[in-house]
Amino acid sequence: MKLLIDNIGELVTNVAGIGEDGPLGIRRKAALLIEDGEVAWIGPARYAPAADRRIDADGRAVLPGFVDSHAHLVFAGDRAPEFAARMAGQPYTGGGIRTTVAATRAASDDRLREIVGRLRVEALRQGTTTIEIKSGYGLNVADEARSLRIASEYTTETTFLGAHVVPTEYADRPDDYVGLVCGPMLRAALPYARWIDVFCERGAFDADHARAILTVGQAAGLGVRVHANQLGPGPGVQLAVELGAASADHCTHLSDADIDALAGSETVATLLPGAEFSTRSPYPDARRLLDAGVTVALATDCNPGSSYTSSLPFCIALAVREMGMTPAEAVWAATAGGARALRRPDAGVLRPGVPADLSILDAPSYLHLAYRPGVPLIIQVLHNGVPQWQP
Ligand code: NIG
Ligand code: FE
Repeated sequence: MKLLIDNIGELVTNVAGIGEDGPLGIRRKAALLIEDGEVAWIGPARYAPAADRRIDADGRAVLPGFVDSHAHLVFAGDRAPEFAARMAGQPYTGGGIRTTVAATRAASDDRLREIVGRLRVEALRQGTTTIEIKSGYGLNVADEARSLRIASEYTTETTFLGAHVVPTEYADRPDDYVGLVCGPMLRAALPYARWIDVFCERGAFDADHARAILTVGQAAGLGVRVHANQLGPGPGVQLAVELGAASADHCTHLSDADIDALAGSETVATLLPGAEFSTRSPYPDARRLLDAGVTVALATDCNPGSSYTSSLPFCIALAVREMGMTPAEAVWAATAGGARALRRPDAGVLRPGVPADLSILDAPSYLHLAYRPGVPLIIQVLHNGVPQWQP
């Protein structure tokens, strides 16, 4: 079965050196052939090969599917009143995480599946074809394991976040909780997890606890990612670099030394502007990171507390308007950048041999993602070469 997308006005490939716009590798008047779910050929529309089926893009823009490299989708309940209180001036502390833990523990497997499935479809409709899903609202052995088991039904990019906060029942003995995370909880998580993450922040886990947890996870074969420097300056970014983490996430409060460390490393800085939006906090300075040569990814942080959005187009618009990114940098960060953060060379790019994961915009250019904020521009998504809905 061969499927041709023809008459593409602007094709973002993310293959640097091809076409225009630097890293976006833009080709105009292009066509893209899909065979067995993979990109088989890309070239000028006038040389398009024959196919069994054809989609006429009619001059529209096509881009790689978004890679959302940071999402907390396994939870129950919502925290709308907490959001309303913040908009009335309350600060965000992360204390509400325990409310979601109680609701998640009380929910059935099927209820959690329903919630993850609904959010996964919501993200797909907005162009996300690869998504990372974290645990972190179970915080005991059984509920962390089942959160990851359910997450693994929806993605291969699963992350064990048993060290999200210290749960209430361990409030006066955090060392014991760290022992639980490093031992029985990690063992129960391993069959379902590819990554390990820690919320390294005042009020959550300090550098010593975070290092202990991440090191034992790494020794067990998990890749490392870190919630770092979200609510204030701290050791998270340096720890991420020290451990060779794939990603340091949030990066809102960075010192010059943090930036230098990231710039000299393979660790991606993943920025999550939905969290600053939803906690009414200052945005991270993407310009400072990019100018220092740091690789930047954009992700949603979708969760019921600090960022209840599944929309990467929304995050792109925020990043352009509020964080000093150009539209090209923001689109790259939400596609190829996310793929770097997940160490996935087959995602966030369109070249022969990769899965055909892409979006068709009802617009002539990727620029419209930031230029027309809040507008549902994604009219078709292909995942593994399969159109996700009828035109
Ligand atoms: O990435 N900061 C830690 N974890 C989430 C928030 C979780 C919550 O508030 O429920 C985050 O923002
Ligand atoms: Fe997060």
